[in-house]
Amino acid sequence: QVIYLKDYQVPEFLIEKTDLRFELQADATLVKARLQIRRNPQSLSKNSALVLQGDKDLVLCRVAVNDQVLAEQDYRRSEESLSINDVPDVFVLETVTEIYPDQNTALEGLYRSDGMYCTQCEAEGFRRITFYLDRPDVMSVFTTTIEADKAAYPVLLSNGNPVASGDADGDRHWVTWEDPFPKPAYLFALVAGDLAFIEDRYVTGSGREVTLQIFAAEKDLDKLDYAMISLKKSMRWDEEVYGREYDLDIYMIVAVDFFNMGAMENKGLNIFNTSCVLAHPETTTDAGFQRVEGVVAHEYFHNWSGNRVTCRDWFQLSLKEGFTVFRDAEFSADMNSRTVKRVEDVSLLRTAQFAEDAGPMAHPIRPASFIEISNFYTMTIYEKGAEVVRMIHTLLGAENFRKGSDLYFERHDGQAVTTDDFVQAMEDASGIDLSQFRLWYSQAGTPVIDVSDEYDASQQIYTLILKQRCPATPGQSEKAPFHIPVSVGLLGKSGQDMMLSNGETTQVLELKEAEQRFSFTEIEEKPIPSLLRSFSAPVKLHYGYQRDDLVFLMSHDSDGFNRWEAAQKLGVDILQELIGEYQAGNELVLDNRLTAAYRAVLTDLSLDQAMVSKVLTLPTEAYLSELSDIIDVDAIHAVREFVIKTLAEALSSELIAVYDRCNVSEKYAPDATSIARRALKNLALSYLMKTGKPEQLERALTQFQDADNMTDSMAALALVVHSPYAKAAEVILEQFYLRWKNEPLVVNQWLSVQASNPSKGALNTVKQLMQHESFNMRNPNKVRSLISGFSSLNPVNFHAMDGSGYRFLADQIIELNNLNPQIASRLVTPLTRWKRYPADRQGMMREELQRIMDSGELSRDVFEVVSKSLA
Ligand code: ARG
Ligand code: ZN
Repeated sequence: QVIYLKDYQVPEFLIEKTDLRFELQADATLVKARLQIRRNPQSLSKNSALVLQGDKDLVLCRVAVNDQVLAEQDYRRSEESLSINDVPDVFVLETVTEIYPDQNTALEGLYRSDGMYCTQCEAEGFRRITFYLDRPDVMSVFTTTIEADKAAYPVLLSNGNPVASGDADGDRHWVTWEDPFPKPAYLFALVAGDLAFIEDRYVTGSGREVTLQIFAAEKDLDKLDYAMISLKKSMRWDEEVYGREYDLDIYMIVAVDFFNMGAMENKGLNIFNTSCVLAHPETTTDAGFQRVEGVVAHEYFHNWSGNRVTCRDWFQLSLKEGFTVFRDAEFSADMNSRTVKRVEDVSLLRTAQFAEDAGPMAHPIRPASFIEISNFYTMTIYEKGAEVVRMIHTLLGAENFRKGSDLYFERHDGQAVTTDDFVQAMEDASGIDLSQFRLWYSQAGTPVIDVSDEYDASQQIYTLILKQRCPATPGQSEKAPFHIPVSVGLLGKSGQDMMLSNGETTQVLELKEAEQRFSFTEIEEKPIPSLLRSFSAPVKLHYGYQRDDLVFLMSHDSDGFNRWEAAQKLGVDILQELIGEYQAGNELVLDNRLTAAYRAVLTDLSLDQAMVSKVLTLPTEAYLSELSDIIDVDAIHAVREFVIKTLAEALSSELIAVYDRCNVSEKYAPDATSIARRALKNLALSYLMKTGKPEQLERALTQFQDADNMTDSMAALALVVHSPYAKAAEVILEQFYLRWKNEPLVVNQWLSVQASNPSKGALNTVKQLMQHESFNMRNPNKVRSLISGFSSLNPVNFHAMDGSGYRFLADQIIELNNLNPQIASRLVTPLTRWKRYPADRQGMMREELQRIMDSGELSRDVFEVVSKSLA
């Protein structure tokens, strides 16, 4: 059943006040709900029945309207709802419902994670807890009482402030929480468990004191400090950059091990996947620390962009997610290296999001329809959504953008609104016309810009000619031209930026037509253009750079992002040519300009050291795949390996020098400078390992044994496991497991390193690991590490010519379809790309999709993705 944006209607009823009482019992939980309901004066239907959403597994024990218990004939249950005819305009509805959190493997609604109770309600999980108007434009104040066994569940949490508590019969106790801010049900949360916590204080700019608490299992108490530091930084940053203060007396974060996504911004009570909140130098890599900082900030920022101002309906999801990702990205950029953060985000966008935009699930950041909303928590809604907000920021400038966000928050505080309301506020505050820009919200697909140029030496005029097009996507064959900010600079032979007519060295060209010319005057020599600086728009831009131009830009562009981009473009150009040679059966010879450029970067200490390891990382196999019309997995892998080995051999003395220079012993700190140093050291090691020299294996093993932090030890482990030294790998894998088997997040990485091993036999290893004591099909983090580790990070084995990888993945999807539809549906992604592969692989991938389709009753989640992929 397809749901359409165009069918949106205001709710027929509103819920003024929600009173919940949870009685948590070993086998079943009783949910007593008292809802103060009234007819929505804005609704056109004046005497419609009350229709509440409620999952089919809810056991309804009692329904009463204004204290009158209803008989069975007074209401109707369907698969997904409860309807009551002839209700008054204002009334109290009471229901008593029984639910079974222990049997909840979908991890939506109320479930148990390692002995504790927790909830996940976004998007539509609340209807698995009780009957409700489960839609984001129905906002209510909540009072929640939780009653449970005192010894097993000493900590009882919900949204807002605790207002009462006491003991109950049978060694039980209860706590009542009150949340004064009206909120949609998707922001409801409840936690009950035996939890330890750390506590801190934060004083807001206006002097309000806030208690900050982070809860986790006792054994993880030593891994919470970094999240607390990050939370306080986020609170300060949102005051400084957006003028937004926190609004309750208490802010809580709870870490849970079983979680479908990264984290959830429930009002005053965030629930986090342990992988996004726990951090300790011994168990967490640099990337892990940065993820914690970013996700803590993301969920905190949602308090304004998401909670105070929420979404009218789920088609507006990017209203809160795109904006909040933009906000957290800017926060991380301010806390760390801005250029590195941009490079990482753009890399992710260009591989995963561009691939999504080119596949059967392509959708605009404001989709027009869906079958299952859980399938739309996508790279497009989040990451492309953030890029769209970033473009608004670029077009308006920081000052106008801030005026726009102030107006947006002021105008819509306490409301459930649309992406169009957001754009309108930006327009109203700045006076800048965004009418054409709105197409970014309704048109899917990645625009392509072809750039050419002309130089008139006699007139000293340089002209850029930009042509845009956008490939067809499902349901959208023709696209109107987008309004695209293209940030450019012009470099002279000296390597200096030229002064442009706006008095600066960078100018934002506003491309609005299918084809448009932009002329620059008083240009004294033919420049080399630096195009799309800082990646000013989520597009593919083509310009006929010569390799020498790219080498020049690598060392001279004043835009740090475009220096990296020049290196990527040079790498892509060279790798693509070699892939052609490989396919033709020719001998491979590396263009020595790449070696020379890499040598220059390795030895130039004046460069931004945080960027060096990024610049020296060749385009990934995933990116090269995305750039291919037809993906030749084996050629891409073989050629990239050849280039790495060739570079490593040619540059081994420089690489050793870099390794030694960066291999300092110091107390671990996750700051930008030391992260950069470790990244460069481990990059050097990764090249050196490819020389195949035994002394480099020794170097890696020494690092593995000596490391006092997970970044260095994991890097060494991965390099050895992914090398031909199988014996050494076996030994340290065993050693590593014995040391870390009680740290689930470390074991996840151990699983993932083995799953992503490009050597032959990886699939068998994965199958064996599925029987390992550490694996649990019901825990999404385990599934992601092992199964997605194989299907997404191990292209050579996943795409094995005997079809074994595809078959394996389909088997897991079929099993997970019953256990956890959200996770099952995400696993389908690699198969959805079948059209991008050669015919033989296409056939096998399609066959597996068809087998999933025919495997029995499919969840909405899996059905939507599989059926759209086969269409
Ligand atoms: N709003 C959360 C976040 O972005 C994600 C929750 C997604 N939940 C889901 N069931 N898809 O921080
Ligand atoms: Zn979010």
